[in-house]
Amino acid sequence: MMPLVDPFARAISYLRVSVTDRCDFRCSYCMSEHMTFLPKAELLSLEELDRLCTAFVRMGVQKLRITGGEPLVRKGILTFFEAMSRHLQSGALQELTLTTNGSQLAKFAEPLAALGVRRVNVSLDTLDPTKFTEITRWGRLQQVLDGISAAKAAGLRVKINAVALKGFNEDEVFSLLDWCAREDHDMTFIEVMPMGDDMGTGLRLDQYWPLKDLRARLTDRFTLTELPDRTGGPARYVRIDQTGQKLGFITPLTHNFCESCNRVRLTCTGQLYMCLGQEDMADLRSPLRASPDDAALETAIRAAIARKPKGHDFDYSRQDVRGQMTRHMSHTGG
Ligand code: GTP
Ligand code: 5AD
Ligand code: SF4
Repeated sequence: MMPLVDPFARAISYLRVSVTDRCDFRCSYCMSEHMTFLPKAELLSLEELDRLCTAFVRMGVQKLRITGGEPLVRKGILTFFEAMSRHLQSGALQELTLTTNGSQLAKFAEPLAALGVRRVNVSLDTLDPTKFTEITRWGRLQQVLDGISAAKAAGLRVKINAVALKGFNEDEVFSLLDWCAREDHDMTFIEVMPMGDDMGTGLRLDQYWPLKDLRARLTDRFTLTELPDRTGGPARYVRIDQTGQKLGFITPLTHNFCESCNRVRLTCTGQLYMCLGQEDMADLRSPLRASPDDAALETAIRAAIARKPKGHDFDYSRQDVRGQMTRHMSHTGG
């Protein structure tokens, strides 16, 4: 079958699937405090999600990342991982993974590892219990730390994702890195993106901390060596010579990585977003439900990829926010 290639000659090999818009946390840069969630009847069933993902795998997707909301709060989620693991076994998928807040990992780490998951990305912005509850509104740090320990014990490689927030975790850069070095977790810092009404609510432009500034702070103490490593995601990696650890930077604002974009995002209602930073999307639920045969679905997927935009327009450089998205990050899973 013809692989998926967009108008800018980028091959689409990475599908991020948000299996639920719900979450047990309310991170201030991601959700508003009072979110209205989709009625359950709107959701695609796990069987429908399977059919959709399988169509993408047939069309050349090699990396599947399950996101949310919080993916592990979706009922029956292991059944879905089990279904996707057949694509690992067949060799069609190179990686089946997830991005999680870690709250449910104590329960799910082992079964996920048994189904072929090798790595998990866990969102964690602070190691201070009070600040953790402040940023997540509803979260308890210890529960997440227990989840991360369970992941490690199950043999999963853990990558910690921290959103860099000025005045919030600026003072924790070294302690987060030190903890990751001790625990042997990889780590990535992310620039905060203007998602959601009022920038994800609670987020102010003055919380934006450009990673080039964070990096400059690191070089006061450390020597950073650029690494050629690519995971197929947007992060660029360095090795910290003094500790030997690997550190990633995701810089949608200071260094646009869209030219090498290889991904699209599917929501739990079957909308396909061709770019995290643009409004355009394609409804795949109608062609999915219109026929048990996948011909119309494949046509709709190709038509959507043919409209994949060049990139996002996020920009804070003029002392205001440009390119903001009104939808919340939890809608498309980051
Ligand atoms: P790896 O496989 O470990 O490289 O993961 P990843 O970086 O692809 O996935 P992860 O879910 O850890 O992504 C981290 C964050 O990067 C997301 O939550 C988003 O905030 C951001 N991100 C991922 N893809 C894109 C993208 O295409 N555009 C933009 N602007 N941000 C992205
Ligand atoms: N900007 C950058 N990253 C965000 N995330 C959620 N909202 C934002 C935002 N506005 C990240 C979380 C998590 C992933 C799912 O998305 O920290 O790592
Ligand atoms: Fe939930 Fe993750 Fe959004 Fe926080 S960032 S509210 S943990 S989906």
